[in-house]
Amino acid sequence: MAAPEGQEAIVAEPQRPITNILIIIAMQTEALPVVNKFHLTEDPHSPFPQGVPWVRYHGTYKDLNINLIWPGKDPTLGVDSVGTISSALVTYAAIQALQPDLIINAGTAGGFKAKGASVGDIFIVSDCAFHDRRIPIPVFDLYGVGLRKAFETPNLTKELDLKVARLSTGDSLDTTEQDESSILANDATVKDMEGAAVAYVAELLKVPAFFIKAVTDIVDGDKPTAEEFLQNLASVTAALDVAVEKVISFINGKCVSEL
Ligand code: ADE
Repeated sequence: MAAPEGQEAIVAEPQRPITNILIIIAMQTEALPVVNKFHLTEDPHSPFPQGVPWVRYHGTYKDLNINLIWPGKDPTLGVDSVGTISSALVTYAAIQALQPDLIINAGTAGGFKAKGASVGDIFIVSDCAFHDRRIPIPVFDLYGVGLRKAFETPNLTKELDLKVARLSTGDSLDTTEQDESSILANDATVKDMEGAAVAYVAELLKVPAFFIKAVTDIVDGDKPTAEEFLQNLASVTAALDVAVEKVISFINGKCVSEL
């Protein structure tokens, strides 16, 4: 399918097997199971500027060099550096330093039951957009929404039997009425705090990127989001970890055009 007008499809070198992958995960709780599963180790000579909290874990799995970047803890407050600013910065810095063939952004998300999401579901993202960048001036409105296609992975999606949905990204865990109507206008099933920012940088630097999101909480349900998120974080992270392992195993030995 052609990319929407104004959007360039990312066409990576189709015939060379993927060797260098970059996984971006915002929360330590989400990242560490993947680090442990692939026996990744922290790089003592980080390629990032001195003083930033960003952490590079790396290792090999079969024919793949795996780099997992976690944006680390906020230097002042000591909590995970979630959200679009940190994720855009680490994506930019990691692409510059590591020249990956492929980016995977994995993490948790809120899901909409009206669009068919349940807690524990794992989604591959078809398109990303922002829901909290409202600029009601012609064309700036479209820039704010920032709709982008993710790199398409039809074979991977089919083989691993994953659901496919649109993702909407914003810098808040909770959802105001205004956010909710923008998310529905984006036709999104899942909502996170990083995806569209990673997609923006990946497109700028022409690296194919796809997104795996696991649902921890139901946005249009009756439980308070923060409570439901924290309650389900450990179990859903375990499911995400299994999915990431299957995805990496599928990728090994393939070219991007075979995903
Ligand atoms: N990550 C997990 N749940 C989320 C939600 N409801 N909104 C944004 N990011 C999330």
